[in-house]
Amino acid sequence: MYELLYRGGLTPWVAAGRAQSALVERLLDREEAWHGSTVGRTLVDLGCGTGEHSLAAARRGWTVVGLDASAAAIDKARRAADGAGLAVRFVVGDVRRLWEVPGLEPGVSVFVDVGCYHGLRAAGRRMVAEGVGRLAASRSSVLVAGLDRRPGLAGVGVTAEGLAADFPDWPVEPDQVFALGGGGPLGRARFRVFRLAREA
Ligand SMILES: C[S@@+](CC[C@H](N)C(=O)[O-])C[C@H]1O[C@@H](n2cnc3c(N)ncnc32)[C@H](O)[C@@H]1O
Repeated sequence: MYELLYRGGLTPWVAAGRAQSALVERLLDREEAWHGSTVGRTLVDLGCGTGEHSLAAARRGWTVVGLDASAAAIDKARRAADGAGLAVRFVVGDVRRLWEVPGLEPGVSVFVDVGCYHGLRAAGRRMVAEGVGRLAASRSSVLVAGLDRRPGLAGVGVTAEGLAADFPDWPVEPDQVFALGGGGPLGRARFRVFRLAREA
């Protein structure tokens, strides 16, 4: 479905994401402070779409891998990185099978997920958590942003309880709520961002 939406240019989350760029910068500030430095540290953007958050992280010196199932989105992301003169590795792949993504090695410091995990089914969410657990560095963090609601059987949304169940080894930190912004159909949606961090 996402592939068709990207090809048709029906991507309201891109405008919404741009409207949240200050928030993304603040979140990255915190990760930079917690990890000490971006130098030599890998940040993986799960379901990166057209790569806005990946590019923001790359500008700050993170080694970034952006992963998305949509070839059309990855194509746009690569072109944006080229245009900005940023070296980001954008890969077509499945966030539910991170261990199969070529070149994605253990030792990842930060995982960012804006609007991908929250739309997966229960089994897919647990697989994301499994992949994150396999690839995370001993000191690592995960940022998950999604629609602020309980997902139900096949619905979209993310809660602290759901994350704690999927990521049992990761304490879930207090989160913040924000309106997505950017106008359009998603503009007034209530989103929530969670942070999980561990030092194994
Ligand atoms: C709502 S969009 C958000 C995109 C981007 N994170 C942003 O904030 O602009 C969700 C993204 O997750 C991707 N996605 C959904 N399921 C996926 C999967 N199993 N593996 C990889 N990407 C997936 C979609 O292709 C889409 O780009």
